[in-house]
Amino acid sequence: MVHLIIRKATLITGIAAIALLSSCYYDNVEELYPQSPDCDTTNISYATDIFPVIDANCIACHSGSAPSGNVSLSNYSEILAASQNGSLLGTIKHEPGWSPMPKNGNKLDDCTISKLEVWVAVGSPDN
Ligand code: HEC
Repeated sequence: MVHLIIRKATLITGIAAIALLSSCYYDNVEELYPQSPDCDTTNISYATDIFPVIDANCIACHSGSAPSGNVSLSNYSEILAASQNGSLLGTIKHEPGWSPMPKNGNKLDDCTISKLEVWVAVGSPDN
């Protein structure tokens, strides 16, 4: 009898743990970054959504032979590196521990930041 009760408790704990775990687990980008009606974050492309933002807001300081902060963002592989080490989102979202970017400029708008977040979340593809 005692044995049975313990097994039942283990089972319930197990189910609760699975339920808890699966409720925090997301693999759906749309769920993680819900779309607002005026911000289309589907089919984000490096060429049309990402590079133009960097080009317009960052490249002036982050290219050439002496890029600001020693961070160059002039091509895909450099932007990919910033995406992978966390500095791209950290700086544009003005997160603690990062220098807020664009330096001395306005924070990028929420939709642009969402697009960059989605691009980073799906692995920063080059297309
Ligand atoms: C007006 C020049 C300027 C612009 C524009 C600019 N940056 Fe910077 N950036 C700097 C300077 C200067 C630094 C060195 C750190 C500092 O002085 O804050 C820096 C540092 C950084 C770093 C390293 C930050 C760290 O905390 O390690 C990253 C990443 C970065 N910038 C990304 C960007 C991105 C992305 C954009 C565009 C959205 C951008 N920057 C626009 C001047 C600029």
